Amino acid sequence: MTDPRLDPPLSMPTYAVRAPLARWLAAEAARAGADLGPYRLLDVGCGEMPYLSLFEPHAREVVGMDTWDNPRASLRGPIEAIPSPDSSFDVVLCAQVLEHVDDPARGVRELARVTRPGGRVLLSTHGAMVYHPNPVDLWRWTGAGLERLFSENGEWASVTVSAGSGAASSLAMLNAIYLEHALRRTPLRVASGLVVALVNRAARALDRRVALLRDERAGTIAANYHVVAERAS
Ligand SMILES: C[S@@+](CC[C@H](N)C(=O)[O-])C[C@H]1O[C@@H](n2cnc3c(N)ncnc32)[C@H](O)[C@@H]1O
Repeated sequence: MTDPRLDPPLSMPTYAVRAPLARWLAAEAARAGADLGPYRLLDVGCGEMPYLSLFEPHAREVVGMDTWDNPRASLRGPIEAIPSPDSSFDVVLCAQVLEHVDDPARGVRELARVTRPGGRVLLSTHGAMVYHPNPVDLWRWTGAGLERLFSENGEWASVTVSAGSGAASSLAMLNAIYLEHALRRTPLRVASGLVVALVNRAARALDRRVALLRDERAGTIAANYHVVAERAS
């Protein structure tokens, strides 16, 4: 069965994070292949490696790393001290990890160190999200905050930060998470998926129609951010 994180249904409360993330990673996995050729990839904080199938067609090797005895990881360590030599990977993936780490600035310097000149980092992390310790949950970001974090840590030729989804979808997600929890305790639980799907569909349509809801400006909110950070050749 396909991992729902690869093709998230509208009935998933975190659709606003998961659907854009899967689309972005699929596009970036292919773009890295076109730009760099078959690449050596490090997946930092790999967890269950849900996005492996997006990268496998373009990578010559995928190395997982995690902080615990994770069977998917051949390297063990924290992002703040990656157990690999300098410039040893073409592409470094770090999906939904940064909010859990003790020292994000040191982590970003380590991502830069292990990425070869001309290589790139693909990182995603939360803007607005409910507290979710795994095992801890320490940080939230804005687009401007992530740009500052990368510009001050590591030598990058370019850093591009984009919101995964617009304000309506992000607000819908926060509401859908609580709605699903509430409905789960009532006879209406059978309709929970349908209600969440309707909320997510309406919010997605609104974001598509209203540009003001999509760009980062005063008053907006984003559930998740995507970062592409390229090392100078
Ligand atoms: C929310 S999960 C994301 C897993 C996977 N990247 C994904 O997208 O499904 C967070 C992962 O970060 C790992 N993690 C937590 N703190 C970390 C740290 N300091 N350095 C590296 N990984 C860490 C956790 O063990 C967990 O596998």
